[in-house]
Amino acid sequence: MSWWTELALIEQAAMKASRYAAGSLLTVGDLPVAEVAAILAATDRIERMPSADRARMLTGRRIALLFYESSTRTRTSFELAAKSLGAITTLVSDKSSSIEKGESLKDTGLTLRALGAECIILRHANSGAPYLLAKATGLPVLNAGDGMHEHPSQALLDLRTILARLPGVDTGRIDSKTLAGVTVVITGDILHSRVARSNAMLLPKLGAKVLLCGPKELLPEDALALGCSGNTGAVEIEREFDKALKRAQVVMMLRIQRERLAGLELDLADYVARYQLSEERLAVGAPEAVVMHPGPMIRGLEIAGEVADGPNSAIEDQVRHGLAVRTALLVRALGAGGFESVTV
Ligand code: CP
Repeated sequence: MSWWTELALIEQAAMKASRYAAGSLLTVGDLPVAEVAAILAATDRIERMPSADRARMLTGRRIALLFYESSTRTRTSFELAAKSLGAITTLVSDKSSSIEKGESLKDTGLTLRALGAECIILRHANSGAPYLLAKATGLPVLNAGDGMHEHPSQALLDLRTILARLPGVDTGRIDSKTLAGVTVVITGDILHSRVARSNAMLLPKLGAKVLLCGPKELLPEDALALGCSGNTGAVEIEREFDKALKRAQVVMMLRIQRERLAGLELDLADYVARYQLSEERLAVGAPEAVVMHPGPMIRGLEIAGEVADGPNSAIEDQVRHGLAVRTALLVRALGAGGFESVTV
């Protein structure tokens, strides 16, 4: 059994076995399109609020950021989002806490709950860790990236970026046809990418085609199963990047995760020649495409610096949308009533 199938089975079992606190975001797999629309609508409304009103939404509420892996974008944006809503935040990192002494995830979560945390944002190297924490604490848990499994808030911010950047998309109507006719090419280390998994599960729900691109070593055939149920054919594989680009309205580049390659032989010079998004390749294959990257990016490897800084690039937009979407996710996690009131 491949790890893709194994992960899907673990997830199904976890979702069946337990009920998690309302407002948790563990996977995009169980988000109905209406809920996605509600999150995006709440994001818009919170963004438009005067900052003084926004700062009253979660005044004094306690949010813990529990990070077992390094992060710049996700950690900082969740923290700034929480503070902009008036919440009190605390950061617990594996590098400077009793986790270093061997304390378990469960005991760390129970400790944070005893200290008054009402919501935990978790990044963890192990796939499935957010389910364990949500079950152990009964608190709303926001998955900020778990191993090679999922990065749900990244997929939501990527969706908002695509909606904002693509011409002709009716952003006032979020449903199963909003992205009909749009092809999003995701290129690179798909095998190890939680961002690719979450996007391949979320974007087809809105009608997009996801075209995965990469060499066999980094893109197994069974990635095709990522297309959401009832949406057969929504995820395809194209091994040749230049061919994939010809079909792209959006091209999302992924970093080679050297830290997860573990024994996998990859000829980097060959990889760059075949899969780097260079200025020339973009100009020939997809001159109008929106270029995205979840970061951190390695300039000169998967993407040329000129493309990252060029007019097609939405990379900084992604970061800004991340801050906005995460305000809505925190309101959703901490105040179902408040969330409803910003979505009506
Ligand atoms: N996209 C993303 O998760 O970036 P960080 O690892 O910096 O949070």
